[in-house]
Amino acid sequence: MKLLVLAAAAVAALAVMTTVSAAPTPSAMTFEEFKDKYNKVYESAEEEARRAAIFQESLDFIEKHNAEAAAGMHTYLVGVNEFADLTREEFRQHHVTRLPFDDDKRDPVTATLHLDEHAVHAADSNGDSSGIDWRKRGAVTPVRNQGQCGNPAIFAAVEAVEGMHAISSGNLVELSTQQVIDCSGTPGCSGGSLVSFFKYIARNGGLDSAADYPTSGAGGQCNKAKEARHVAKVGGYSVVPPRNETKLAAAVFKMPVAVAIEADTPSFQMYTSGVYSGPCGTQLDHAVLVVGYTDEYWIVKNSWGASWGDQGYIMMKRGVGAAGICGITLDAMYPTATNATVATLHL
Ligand SMILES: *[C@@H]1O[C@H](CO)[C@@H](O)[C@H](O)[C@H]1NC(C)=O
Ligand SMILES: *[C@@H]1O[C@H](CO)[C@@H](O)[C@H](O)[C@H]1NC(C)=O
Repeated sequence: MKLLVLAAAAVAALAVMTTVSAAPTPSAMTFEEFKDKYNKVYESAEEEARRAAIFQESLDFIEKHNAEAAAGMHTYLVGVNEFADLTREEFRQHHVTRLPFDDDKRDPVTATLHLDEHAVHAADSNGDSSGIDWRKRGAVTPVRNQGQCGNPAIFAAVEAVEGMHAISSGNLVELSTQQVIDCSGTPGCSGGSLVSFFKYIARNGGLDSAADYPTSGAGGQCNKAKEARHVAKVGGYSVVPPRNETKLAAAVFKMPVAVAIEADTPSFQMYTSGVYSGPCGTQLDHAVLVVGYTDEYWIVKNSWGASWGDQGYIMMKRGVGAAGICGITLDAMYPTATNATVATLHL
């Protein structure tokens, strides 16, 4: 009898241990620790109190979500990051921008797509059906931080070109986001869609390296001499036919693909690991780079620094319907070496 009680206690202890180990460690952070870690300095005591209250709300959200995750209700965890003292509205204002759909991108282009849909089948036949990870193939640069005023669409477009250039040349070179900020006519904070930046890059014939045309902060004067140095040559771009995850996978099998998503939800804001499954809608407000996929998820590179998410990345669930997770299939495109697409668009 005594033994039985002991055994029961051991089982109970084990159960508690499993729950505890699955529980989030990040939410144990205090506001003081948070301020230290992310170098937060507030203007006044009132402001600090307000931030502390928002931080507490974030902690409550994190604890609730991760407790639910431990109970099997979510496939991903959230945690404290540098955005934990921002309201959803502030986060929206500073880190995501409503991405305008560019209508002239669509109709003429669909007819001229040279998307290799056979890629997926080729993947199946060579035993690589579980997907691809361009990071392991040397085609992805380190995670960047767009900063408060950065336009994520510029980062996604430039990084897609880095991918194409690495795959075709064998050289992984960081390309210039500053060139696009200065020269595309759509500087830093003022919006602009993915396609507008792909058009600029194609029209210019390519991009200079980040080493030659380095980041200088806000938008400045376009350096014409550097703009003309095409370290990576680009002739056009292709739009992935929307509303089809298979076609997006086929495109990603060729190279990293720039996509637009809705990213203004608290769960996305504070994602730390696992397979992100929403909730999120399809009001596209952010741009990121899909650098690979597995049967289960897309491997997505963000531009909010390496301390955000899973070392700067987020794994986003596949197989959720035509629009894809957070609208990921709706506005996807990648650069091409030839000018076929550009010509059709009457640039
Ligand atoms: C999605 O694309 C694949 C590959 O091109 C095609 O076989 C499939 O029918 C498409 N699905 C839909 C719903 O259009
Ligand atoms: C596209 O390339 C072809 C051949 O290289 C060239 O003749 C044509 O002028 C180019 N079109 C545009 C719009 O740049």
